[in-house]
Amino acid sequence: MTLDKLDLSLSQELDSLKAEGRAKAPERIIETYIPPNGPKGPRYKLVGSDKEFIRLNSNSYLSLSQHPDLVAAADKATHEFGVGPGAVRFIDGTFIHHVALEKRVAAFVGKPAAKIFNSAYTSNCGLALSISHAKTFWIGDQLNHNSIIRAMRISNIPSKNKAIYKHNDMTDLKRCLDEIPLDMERVVVIFDGIFSMRGDFAPIHEINEVCKDYDEKFKDGVITVVDDSHGIGAYGDKGRGTPDFCGASPDIIIGTFGKAFGVNGGFIAGSPTLIEAVRQKADTYIYTNPLSVADCAAAVKAMDICDGKEGLALLKNLKERTGQFRKGLTDQGKESIPGPHPVVPLMIRDTKKTQDLVKYLFDHGVLVVGLTFPVVPRGDETIRFQINASHTMADIEYVIELLKNFK
Ligand SMILES: Cc1ncc(COP(=O)(O)O)c(C=O)c1O
Repeated sequence: MTLDKLDLSLSQELDSLKAEGRAKAPERIIETYIPPNGPKGPRYKLVGSDKEFIRLNSNSYLSLSQHPDLVAAADKATHEFGVGPGAVRFIDGTFIHHVALEKRVAAFVGKPAAKIFNSAYTSNCGLALSISHAKTFWIGDQLNHNSIIRAMRISNIPSKNKAIYKHNDMTDLKRCLDEIPLDMERVVVIFDGIFSMRGDFAPIHEINEVCKDYDEKFKDGVITVVDDSHGIGAYGDKGRGTPDFCGASPDIIIGTFGKAFGVNGGFIAGSPTLIEAVRQKADTYIYTNPLSVADCAAAVKAMDICDGKEGLALLKNLKERTGQFRKGLTDQGKESIPGPHPVVPLMIRDTKKTQDLVKYLFDHGVLVVGLTFPVVPRGDETIRFQINASHTMADIEYVIELLKNFK
C-alpha cells in the first residue's frame, strides 16, 4: 500500500485552501538571535536572508525567553532530571518541578489550586472534557480563540447546549443566559481575557455581575472561565493579567506560559476539587507526557521575576513602548483599537494595501502579521503589531517612521 491515493485527495483539499485564500504562507525559519545592543533591541536573522529583523509579531511580551535566570533554571533542572519525563504524570512522570510550577501559578493568579498542561490549547480542551456532561450549557464570546471553540466542540455536548454572544456585548450575554433550556444543570461562560487579534479585553467585572443573577437558576450554577493567555504576565498593574486589570476574578483561569513568560505550557487554576476532577478526567492531561522539568523550572523563574522589581521594570518599559507606538499611530491619523495592551492592531481595511504594507515592512527588516480576507471579513483587514519589553525607544521610532513613509 502507498499514500498515493490519499496524497491525491489531500492535494485537492490543499488546492481548495489556496484558492479560498486560507492557506498559510510557507514558514520562515529563524536561524540567528542577536542580543540587544545599546539603542537596538534584539534582532533575528532568517534562513535565506542577510537582513536583521525586529520582531513585532512575538507573544513574548516580557522578552523573558532569553533571560539568563530562566536559561540557568532550565539548565539546572535538566542536569538534575534529564530532558524528558519518561512517562505520563500518573505513571511516575511527576517530578518536583511539575508540582512546584502548579503551586507557583496558583499563587500567581490567586486561586487555591492549578494543574499544568503542555499548552493553553490542551488546557482548554482538558477543562471541557472534565466539566461537561449532557446537562452542561456553554456560552462563549463570538471572537473566542480557536482553542476555546475546539474545546466546546470536543466536550460532546449537543449543539442545542451552546450559545455565542456578540463580542463583549453584555446585553447579548444576558439574552444567551435567558434562553438556556430549563433542564440544564451547569452553565459555563467562557471568554478570552485579551482578544489576541484586537488587543481589547473582556470586561470580567461586568461578566461576573451579569452571570451572578443567573447562578441560582441552575443546579451547579453559572461558572465563569477566562482564557487569559495574552493577559497573564503582560496586563494589569502587577502583570497578573486581565483579572488584575478589571479588579475581578472569574471562577476558573486558563493561561499559557508560552507568551509573556517566554517559556511553554498551559494551566487551569480553580478550586482543589475542580483541579482533582481535571486530573481524573482531562484526557489531554492524562494520556500525554507532561512538560519537561526545564520548562517548569523556567516558568517558575519567570513568575518570580514578574513578582519582583525587575518584572515591574519590564512591565513599565512594555507599557511605555506600547504607549509610544500607539501615539505614533495616532499622530499619523491611523486607525487602531484603543487600549493599553501590547497587541496593537492597525486597521487597513483593504486586502491589497495590507499585503503591500506587510511586504514593505519585511523589506525594511520588520516582522508583522497581516490579517486579510477570508481570515477576517472584507473591510476588517488589519496588521497586528506586538510590542515586547525588549523593544527600545529607537526600535519603535524606526517602525513609526517607516509607517509614515509608506505610500
Ligand atoms: C486565547 C488563547 N488561548 C490559547 C492560545 C494557545 O496557547 P498555547 O500556545 O499555550 O497553546 C492562544 C495563543 O495563540 C490564545 O490566544
